[in-house]
Amino acid sequence: MNGSNGWRLLVCINRRLGSDTPSCGGRGSERLVERLVELCAARGLELPVETILCFGSCSRGPNIRLAPGGAFFHGVTEAGLPELVAQVAATVVAGPPESD
Ligand code: FES
Repeated sequence: MNGSNGWRLLVCINRRLGSDTPSCGGRGSERLVERLVELCAARGLELPVETILCFGSCSRGPNIRLAPGGAFFHGVTEAGLPELVAQVAATVVAGPPESD
């Protein structure tokens, strides 16, 4: 297993019911959380996957971010998750986030 090196994945699951404003949850982001956990585990990557309620990039969702300060993924689909996890794994294994 590879540790998280201080990284974590944040998935926006905000859902705006009764609104025409787009939201990540409204575009199915909740389904991505469980799949992300599975894909990380399959790679032996111990990376926390956390949910949040809005990055402020709602029209570009579903949105996922490697935190702190890592890659920001927009328009994520379930089909795109293996590539996302591969990219994230390369960053995580390379070392901890840069501190300010
Ligand atoms: S609803 Fe996901 S970024 Fe705003």
